[in-house]
Amino acid sequence: MRLSLNPLAFGTAFALALCTSAALIGSGPAAACEGRTTLAQSYVGANKDVKAEYVYCANDLRSDVSTSTGAGSDIFARQNDVCGAACTTYCWTPSGGGPDPNDCTVIQDALLYDSENTGPLFSLDPATNTSMIVMTYNTCQTYILDQTNSSLTYCRSDWATLVNYIAFNCQATQNAHGGVCVADDQRWYIQVQHS
Ligand SMILES: *[C@@H]1O[C@H](CO)[C@@H](O)[C@H](O)[C@H]1NC(C)=O
Ligand SMILES: *[C@@H]1O[C@H](CO)[C@@H](O)[C@H](O)[C@H]1NC(C)=O
Repeated sequence: MRLSLNPLAFGTAFALALCTSAALIGSGPAAACEGRTTLAQSYVGANKDVKAEYVYCANDLRSDVSTSTGAGSDIFARQNDVCGAACTTYCWTPSGGGPDPNDCTVIQDALLYDSENTGPLFSLDPATNTSMIVMTYNTCQTYILDQTNSSLTYCRSDWATLVNYIAFNCQATQNAHGGVCVADDQRWYIQVQHS
């Protein structure tokens, strides 16, 4: 299952191309965060009920699922703005213990609200210890991780789309309990899991 996010030339709108085949099955979520330190925290969304944190983990959380396209050769200069970049979705099996997708929709709504009211873009930067942002509402937790040594810029609206997409396509009815979308160039991933 490939989820392609294709930004349009204007605003934060984008076209979303989804295929209808089943999502890939992942080998399991990235390792749990060890030595977890919350570096900053706030509550976001229209109702200020979604917790947003910059988190530092002492261990390596890089995803062990890799997409076949890989990083490839660097013939083209790499852009730090990865809005609209394609990622591939993997679901974690089996069913049971996953987040309630409706809680994930609350996070989606908060991200869309922030996109409109705070700004469409946000940054991840290992140099400022902001490689990992975690958002939590009730049973649903999603995070984005910059797996590189350099900064990346991403769109709140794309994250919003992905958290809902993963939540509803990797739930019990798919024999899953959450999942991940790994950038096709491996530079970042977004995971959805039980909080
Ligand atoms: C990030 O934060 C952790 C925990 O406070 C700290 O140990 C680490 O040195 C920090 N890294 C950077 C690059 O500031
Ligand atoms: C990223 O930084 C780590 C620690 O400094 C280093 O071991 C690793 O080789 C770097 N990776 C890349 C892709 O530059």
